[in-house]
Amino acid sequence: MILQQKKELIIGLFGFGTAGSSLYEALTNIPESGISIKRICIRDGAKVRHAHASLFTTNRNELLQDPEINVIVELTSDPLAAYEIICTALDNGKAVVTAGKKTLADHLPELIERAQATGLPLLYEAACCAGIPIIRNLEEYYANDSLKSLHGIVNGSTNYILSQMTANGLTFADALQQAQVAGFAEEDPTLDIGGEDAANKLTILLAHAWGITGQKPLYCGIDKIHPADAKLAADRGQCIKLVARAQRLPDGKIAAFVLPQFINKQGKIAGIHNEYNAIEVAGSLDTQFFSGRGAGGNPTASAVLSDLQALRYNYYYDYYKLHHGGTLLSGDFYLKVCISYRSLLHVRHEDFVRIDEWISTENRCHISGIIHSSALAGNWWKSGVTSLIVYEDGLAPLLEFEPLLNATPSKTDATHAHQ
Ligand SMILES: NC(=O)c1ccc[n+]([C@@H]2O[C@H](COP(=O)([O-])OP(=O)(O)OC[C@H]3O[C@@H](n4cnc5c(N)ncnc54)[C@H](OP(=O)(O)O)[C@@H]3O)[C@@H](O)[C@H]2O)c1
Repeated sequence: MILQQKKELIIGLFGFGTAGSSLYEALTNIPESGISIKRICIRDGAKVRHAHASLFTTNRNELLQDPEINVIVELTSDPLAAYEIICTALDNGKAVVTAGKKTLADHLPELIERAQATGLPLLYEAACCAGIPIIRNLEEYYANDSLKSLHGIVNGSTNYILSQMTANGLTFADALQQAQVAGFAEEDPTLDIGGEDAANKLTILLAHAWGITGQKPLYCGIDKIHPADAKLAADRGQCIKLVARAQRLPDGKIAAFVLPQFINKQGKIAGIHNEYNAIEVAGSLDTQFFSGRGAGGNPTASAVLSDLQALRYNYYYDYYKLHHGGTLLSGDFYLKVCISYRSLLHVRHEDFVRIDEWISTENRCHISGIIHSSALAGNWWKSGVTSLIVYEDGLAPLLEFEPLLNATPSKTDATHAHQ
């Protein structure tokens, strides 16, 4: 990890969209950085670009086989192409910086092994929360801390949509379109709104926080949230945010999920709006709160630039926790959840080990109680006609079993709660 002299970096850049063009501009404005872009590979050779035409090519080999290029920066929107580019770059002796969280989450163990076999750095700070330097902090600052938990908002696009719907009364579709225009959303927005993008980021964070690889957490997005769910939250002085959470259980394993969550409006996470992200890391001695822009060209380019500066000193990730035993994801924990539904036919209420509350109104019903994580593995709650919202602090490692209350939903129009 130590190099006496700063390396000169000659970059082959893949992708010239939101992130790639911001990086290009940043490097143009600091010419003395010791980092220069030699070629840029894009998908569509006919598009007009705000850079000299001679830089661009659609032939990836012009970058991957150029012996002068010593770093590949991968900022495409194509996860499959990204995988091939990263592998070939490492095999051809080039360091890699990428923001491709889906590619990383889908292939992390293999990519870590490949980078180590070639002895080349593979850095990806921009892949998690863009402008928040969370990976380097987990790698370095928390390398020897067994960490109790981490949780927060790790997807700028869904946070933007929820913020705009709440603050400005935008419809879901309009808020999504605004997020896309601003460059916060993925090319395929289903990755954002379905929760997979946040789950991919949590998968990467798990590798650095606890040495967990090869397992993806339970996840769901915001696309099923019903207006009645938002109203229920507001009536209780809460809001709904898409939260990624990982928490150490007494048996040493980690419970992890990405789910919509009720958030107390007075809490720190509730104050994170629009494309901003935040992560709270609870270490063995203290808790830190990181926040910043989690999407957009400049925050993403800022993280890539930081990785490039680190490469000049030959920095690479140690994966200390992975190489010192790591741990496993748990499939054995309880959650306090609220399931929102139209027809009782769509709810497996027998899966609840305890029902705390059952609210029935004309438009929507809500059942709240405790459910085992294994009961959510079947995905019945993702069918499209129900939504699931987890309670704040609704993760319980052990549960005193209480008898299932066989309450039936009220048939009246008025809100009715069973306690
Ligand atoms: N934007 C953000 O806020 C953000 C934040 C963190 C991480 N990221 C990640 O950064 C990466 C880039 O995101 P973005 O928002 O910049 O995407 P984008 O605006 O959609 O731009 C994607 C770029 O990739 C190029 N491309 C697509 N397929 C390609 C291929 N097969 N070969 C070469 N180039 C290809 C496109 O070429 P054309 O221009 O010819 O279409 C375009 O220039 C993604 O992995 C994303 O998840 C983005």
